Amino acid sequence: MVKKKIAVFISGRGSNLKSLINHSKKKNSLFKIDLVISNNFNVKGLKIANKSKIKNYYVKYSNKRIFENRVLKLLNKNKIDLICLAGFMKILSKKFIKKFSSPIINIHPSLLPKYKGLNTHMKAIKNKDKYSGATVHIVNDKLDSGKIIIQEKVRILKSDNEKTLKKKVLKIEHKIYSKAIIKLLTNY
Ligand code: GRF
Repeated sequence: MVKKKIAVFISGRGSNLKSLINHSKKKNSLFKIDLVISNNFNVKGLKIANKSKIKNYYVKYSNKRIFENRVLKLLNKNKIDLICLAGFMKILSKKFIKKFSSPIINIHPSLLPKYKGLNTHMKAIKNKDKYSGATVHIVNDKLDSGKIIIQEKVRILKSDNEKTLKKKVLKIEHKIYSKAIIKLLTNY
């Protein structure tokens, strides 16, 4: 079986990247993390990639067009089948999404369509929601808006604060991202 080649885009810590790497190392995994791209220099996620001997690049984000052209070259050169955004803090242009003809997916720490953008945990607590969770979705040119692939929820307890909720949701993120990839790859 030929494993699908994934490029993971990050901006920082890379805990989702780490969980995808772990999953890709399992016997019979359908995918391989082939490339890691970060718009930030010297971040933990790049160190994780290095440690796992995965090709990784810091691509300076001087402006969207230059950044995206450089990234597209790397993607084509490495024959990437799927892009996974994992804590990547930039919005990709319509042009980029069109030019990269394979799927691009993202993980978001809320039950989309609720709470797009930042500070999702704070918003959920403030609104006294009973549940929060995480969502993996297809990326389009609007923020956190594409078709949902997988979503899983977690109960918000009265005792929860932003920090405890974030931790619970992150645990779910690590569980559902690889599941969503498999779902996507096997439905293709
Ligand atoms: C995650 O909560 C992800 O859902 C959000 O940014 C965070 C990235 O965390 N988009 P990490 O870099 O994967 O640890």
